[in-house]
Amino acid sequence: MPVLSISPFFLLILLFSFFLTHLPNPNATAVAAPADFLKLPLLHKPPFSSPSQSLSSDTHRLSLLFSRPNPTLKSPLISGASTGSGQYFVDIRLGTPPQSLLLVADTGSDLVWVKCSACRNCSHHPPSSAFLPRHSSSFSPFHCFDPHCRLLPHAPHHLCNHTRLHSPCRFLYSYADGSLSSGFFSKETTTLKSLSGSEIHLKGLSFGCGFRISGPSVSGAQFNGARGVMGLGRGSISFSSQLGRRFGNKFSYCLMDYTLSPPPTSFLMIGGGLHSLPLTNATKISYTPLQINPLSPTFYYITIHSITIDGVKLPINPAVWEIDEQGNGGTVVDSGTTLTYLTKTAYEEVLKSVRRRVKLPNAAELTPGFDLCVNASGESRRPSLPRLRFRLGGGAVFAPPPRNYFLETEEGVMCLAIRAVESGNGFSVIGNLMQQGFLLEFDKEESRLGFTRRGCGLP
Ligand SMILES: *[C@@H]1O[C@H](CO)[C@@H](O)[C@H](O)[C@H]1NC(C)=O
Ligand SMILES: *[C@@H]1O[C@H](CO)[C@@H](O)[C@H](O)[C@H]1NC(C)=O
Ligand SMILES: *[C@@H]1O[C@H](CO)[C@@H](O)[C@H](O)[C@H]1NC(C)=O
Ligand SMILES: *[C@@H]1O[C@H](CO)[C@@H](O)[C@H](O)[C@H]1NC(C)=O
Repeated sequence: MPVLSISPFFLLILLFSFFLTHLPNPNATAVAAPADFLKLPLLHKPPFSSPSQSLSSDTHRLSLLFSRPNPTLKSPLISGASTGSGQYFVDIRLGTPPQSLLLVADTGSDLVWVKCSACRNCSHHPPSSAFLPRHSSSFSPFHCFDPHCRLLPHAPHHLCNHTRLHSPCRFLYSYADGSLSSGFFSKETTTLKSLSGSEIHLKGLSFGCGFRISGPSVSGAQFNGARGVMGLGRGSISFSSQLGRRFGNKFSYCLMDYTLSPPPTSFLMIGGGLHSLPLTNATKISYTPLQINPLSPTFYYITIHSITIDGVKLPINPAVWEIDEQGNGGTVVDSGTTLTYLTKTAYEEVLKSVRRRVKLPNAAELTPGFDLCVNASGESRRPSLPRLRFRLGGGAVFAPPPRNYFLETEEGVMCLAIRAVESGNGFSVIGNLMQQGFLLEFDKEESRLGFTRRGCGLP
C-alpha cells in the first residue's frame, strides 16, 4: 500500500527536521520482554468475519484481484473494485485495559494508525470496531510542539502554538489511491501476543488516532474488517522502526498461501532475523541489497537486473528498472499490494514470452483486469506453467513457483497475476502474492533483503 509520494520541497523540510531532532528515537520501551524478538501471527482474514466469506470460495478469490489500489503514484483505483481483501492482518492490543484491533501489515507505508471513536460511554459500541481512547488510562496525544510531531509528513508545524496547553499534533496521511486517514498523533501502551503465547507490553508506541478516514483502500468492504494500518516501512515512525531499538533493526515475515485449506500460519517477526531460526546448513539464504531512494524514504527498494522465463533471458534494457533523478521508477517490495506490477516495457516482454511459452489453451474469456488467462481445467493439480526468475542486485535469484504469479480466478482458469505500471512515473511492485511461501527478512542494519523458501514452517 504505497503512500503518496511527497514533494521534494516538503521532503527537505522533513529531512531538515530529522537532523534538528537527531532522529529522536520513538522511545518505545519494552517492559518484561522475555525474548529478543517478537513473533506475531499474521492472519489472512479477520477472525470475526462471517463464515459465508469463506476464503476457499471462488467469489472471494476473484475479489482478491481488485482489492488493491493501483500502486502507481497518482492513478485512480482500478474500476470494478469489489469486496474482499488480499491483505495480511496483525492483531494488536492498544490501551489500558487493552482493546483488540486488527491492522493491515503494510511494508509500503510508515504510519501506524487506528480508527478512533471519541465516545465516552460506549457500552453499546461493537467490540473491536474502533479504538476508544476515553476508555484507556494510558492514552495521550502528542502536543504539536513535541519532537515526535515533526516526524510526521503533512503536519502543519508552523501552525503550532506552543504556549497553548491543548494543541494536539494533527496528522494527515494519504495513500497512493487517494485514501486518507487523519486525526491526532498520540502515544499509547500496546500489548502484543507472541506466537509462543507470551505477552509483551510496550509503552509509548507512537500511532495515529484516526477520526476521519476515507477512500477505498482504508475503509469499507475492501478493508475487510481491519481498523487501521501497521506501517512497516523504513521511516522512523513505522512500527518496525519504533521497535527496532529494542528488537534489532530488522523484521521478517512469511506469507503463506491462503487458498490452502486449512490455511497455514503466516507470521511477522520483529527482530531476531533468519539467524535466530533453526535453519539447517543446507538452507540457502539469498541476499539482495536494499536501495535507498531519498525521495521516497518509506519504501524497501530492490534492484532487478533481468528476468528469465523458462531459462531464456528477456530482452529488457536494464535501464528501465532504475530510479531516476526525480525519484521515479525502481522496484519496491510491498506486503500491502496483492499483485505484482512491472514497468511497462518489462511487462510487455514478460507477457509476450509467457504467452508464447504457455502450453495450455486460452480460457474462453479473460477475467477482467488480466491480459492472459489459460484454461487449466483439463490439467492435473499442478499445471505446467512457464517458470519466471528474477535476477536481482548482488547476484541473488528469486525464483517463485508459478502459483505466486498465476492466480486461479475461477474454477480451472489461471490468469497471469502481473500487471503493467500504468503511469510513466510509477514504480514496480513485488506484491504479496509473489512473496508467498518465502521467508523474507528486511534488514535495515545491513541494508539488505534476505529470502529463502525454507523456514516458513519453523517454530
Ligand atoms: C455508561 O452507561 C451505563 C448504562 O447506560 C451506565 O450504567 C453507566 O453508569 C455509564 N457510565 C458512565 C461512565 O457514564
Ligand atoms: C497562543 O496561545 C496563547 C494562549 O492560548 C494565546 O494567548 C496566544 O495569542 C496564541 N498565539 C497565537 C499566535 O495564536
Ligand atoms: C552445520 O555447520 C556447522 C558449522 O559448519 C557444523 O558444526 C554442524 O555440524 C553442521 N550441522 C549439520 C546438521 O550438518
Ligand atoms: C476449458 O476447457 C474445457 C474443455 O477442455 C471446456 O469444457 C471449458 O468450458 C473451458 N473453460 C473455460 C473457462 O474456457
